[in-house]
Amino acid sequence: MARSPLVDRLRASAPQISVGVLTADWLTLGSQLEILESAGVELLHFDVMDGMFCPMLTMGAPVVAGLKTRLLKDVHLMIEDPLSKLDAFVAAGADIITVHAESTRHIHRVLQALGKMTNANDSNRGIVRGIALNPGTPLEVLEPLAGEFELVLMLAVNPGWGGQKFIASTCDRVKRLREIVRDTALICVDGGVTRDNIGSIARLGADIIVTGSAVFDGKAPLENARAMTGALR
Ligand code: DX5
Ligand code: ZN
Repeated sequence: MARSPLVDRLRASAPQISVGVLTADWLTLGSQLEILESAGVELLHFDVMDGMFCPMLTMGAPVVAGLKTRLLKDVHLMIEDPLSKLDAFVAAGADIITVHAESTRHIHRVLQALGKMTNANDSNRGIVRGIALNPGTPLEVLEPLAGEFELVLMLAVNPGWGGQKFIASTCDRVKRLREIVRDTALICVDGGVTRDNIGSIARLGADIIVTGSAVFDGKAPLENARAMTGALR
């Protein structure tokens, strides 16, 4: 399967943050997103939860579609039966779609289906195919899927909520993951990222680091986004 051209763009910008929109001030979302753009952020992270795969219910494809932005849409699906919903998220303008290995009996089939889909924003851009692993899932699950993903999202908290504490054993997992995938896949770390740990997470080899409540803390998103980005330089 051909690699998405977007992968090269993301690799060139690595390490970078992807900001979780969940804890933003939705009443002033337009200006919140402009703040992110002015801080040089490229990626907007959508935590899609269905109340089944994980306890909370957040948003579906219409919300992803309705949010018009120049930022790339990084869609993290924490839902059951992802195969039946892929079309809707692609139509909603997803640039990265990440599916949990634990959310379907047929992860190989889901990744293959994703590889045949066209980016709705720009047909030449491609869609980055991501696979996400919960903290309790062995890395060996990736082995038979080689060549079918371009990004691995390592969840550093159990799926469900923003604002949880970073699980320390994730660090070893990220190091091992880098040895396993080498340069064949981007590594994304998601959950519990703060100003204090973002630098060390990047040094483990992460290309994309998701940050939700550490940027949208209800106080100073611009300053937070600049501080998080600055910590990566
Ligand atoms: C957890 C989600 C994370 C989370 C990140 O289920 O996948 O993306 O919202 O939020 P923070 O950065 O607040 O831990
Ligand atoms: Zn996420």
